[in-house]
Amino acid sequence: VIRPDRYALYERAVQTPEHDVELIARIYRERRRRAPRTLREDFAGTAAVSIAWVASDDEREAIAIDLDAGALSRARVNAKARLETDERARLSLVRGDVRTVATRAVDVVLAPNFSWAILDDLGAYLGAVRRSLASGGLLLLETFGGRDLERRIVHRHERPGFTYVWEHRGFDPVSRVLDARIHFEARGRMLRDAFSYRFRLRTLAELRALLRDAGLARADLLVEDARGALRPVSRAPPRAAWNGYLVASVR
Ligand SMILES: C[S@@+](CC[C@H](N)C(=O)[O-])C[C@H]1O[C@@H](n2cnc3c(N)ncnc32)[C@H](O)[C@@H]1O
Repeated sequence: VIRPDRYALYERAVQTPEHDVELIARIYRERRRRAPRTLREDFAGTAAVSIAWVASDDEREAIAIDLDAGALSRARVNAKARLETDERARLSLVRGDVRTVATRAVDVVLAPNFSWAILDDLGAYLGAVRRSLASGGLLLLETFGGRDLERRIVHRHERPGFTYVWEHRGFDPVSRVLDARIHFEARGRMLRDAFSYRFRLRTLAELRALLRDAGLARADLLVEDARGALRPVSRAPPRAAWNGYLVASVR
């Protein structure tokens, strides 16, 4: 049994890997009329989505990339606990920078949970994504929006056995950088600033221009509706907070 630590709490607080795997496959199938086989999970952390990906189908392969050796060693432990040998053989865990690491061509690159927004040189990253996409390949950029991103907020979410706290500590309107923190409370103990991020907020127009410059086209925006279903929309909804995916493809 693995004792809960910040990586385990993070997975249980914010990730839904099986759900993500279905979503990725559906988004690809709807556009390409065939099943995706290879996934590259960028900013993978503990590689939860890649692990669920190789477990979901005998044909599927995944490459999970992260800079953090600690997260990747947790990924290795989780893969051992959750996967059979043949499934593990279809998973590569790569320590590297998503802007420079060279991987073989894949059907889908997943940039999850707004992680890409920490990059100042997003263009360099998108160029690397473009080079790693196979013909027909898709980039799924998971994105958030709404006025709440520019406000100080503290949202507490009860989870079985612990509390997950998402805080917007501050927002600088000049640089448009949001200082966001994750705290956990478990068994009366507070794990403050378990994770902290500096997200550079960009408008959809800016994102689409960066994608176009990188050779990625047709960036469709899918936004979660009130029931949690993703719907294509032509512009960002006028809500205080929304989340969804920008789906871009090789031109
Ligand atoms: C918020 S976590 C993402 C965890 C999980 N994949 C998710 O979607 O919730 C962000 C991760 O990005 C990694 N990271 C940050 N900059 C990176 C870079 N340039 N290349 C690769 N990984 C990076 C960090 O080490 C961290 O594990």
